[in-house]
Amino acid sequence: MAFETITSETKGAVTLITLNRPDALNALNTTVLNELQQAFAAFEADDSQHCAVVTGSGEKAFAAGADIKEMVDKQAADFFLEDFFSGWNEMTAKTRKPWIAAVNGFALGGGCELAMMADFIIASENAKFGQPEIKLGVAPGMGGSQRLTRAVGKSKAMDLCLTGRMMDAAEAERAGLVARIVPHDQLMDEAMSAAEAIASMPPMAAMVNKELVDAAFETTLAQGLTHERRLFQILTATQDKSEGMSAFVEKRAANWKGR
Ligand code: HXC
Repeated sequence: MAFETITSETKGAVTLITLNRPDALNALNTTVLNELQQAFAAFEADDSQHCAVVTGSGEKAFAAGADIKEMVDKQAADFFLEDFFSGWNEMTAKTRKPWIAAVNGFALGGGCELAMMADFIIASENAKFGQPEIKLGVAPGMGGSQRLTRAVGKSKAMDLCLTGRMMDAAEAERAGLVARIVPHDQLMDEAMSAAEAIASMPPMAAMVNKELVDAAFETTLAQGLTHERRLFQILTATQDKSEGMSAFVEKRAANWKGR
């Protein structure tokens, strides 16, 4: 697909989506959102695609936030009537297949929030995370106050949101925001090989594993444990459960059916 502000390409079973406004440090405007929604919908609909990676073009940024130049002249009524930023939640909620954020530099404001929408984050040593909206007279609007707090706890989330400071990749990993840190020049190899590993798994099981981990943020423990058992039980009815367990017993590679 041809886009103006992103690129999307398939590499085997992995879709690589690159934010492509390097001159604006990949700031997220309405066109980026519309194009990401289309790219994610295409990824979700394509039976040959089993994992996606989202990264930023250029050396400096994953995304330096929502586009401040797009927002500067908008009034409160515009934000309210457009339900500004709601499309990001819709995109995330509709994506049942797994995807990874490969954070190559600044992930600030909406950029940090987009990274946190991913199932997990792999960061380059150059990555910097922050929620600096307070310095603009506002607050996070794409999930930062909620997802960051769930990821790193109240104290550090308050620290980042109230001071607007950035944290580096090492601090983000210590805090539990980031799954892995790699040297900058190895970021895409690491992210693509993680995505290929996920894409080689039975796809229904991958979707169920994602749904279950996400459910941990929404439910009581008792509800979550019941949800987990039920989905586990449903997976046992799949051809891929029979294939996966038989392949193990027969000491051979599994040949997934995707059902
Ligand atoms: C629009 C942006 C931008 C942004 C950078 N640029 N961030 N444009 N929106 N969020 C543009 C700059 O204007 C500049 O273009 C070019 O990218 C390079 O940026 P510089 O500032 O010159 O680079 P540098 O000095 O290296 O500083 C990098 C930086 C800084 C520290 C990341 O750009 C910065 O602080 N950006 C804003 C970060 C931020 O506040 N993010 C949160 C946004 S609000 P020109 O053409 O001007 O030279 C948000 C949610 C808000 O995400 C929710 C409200 C409802």
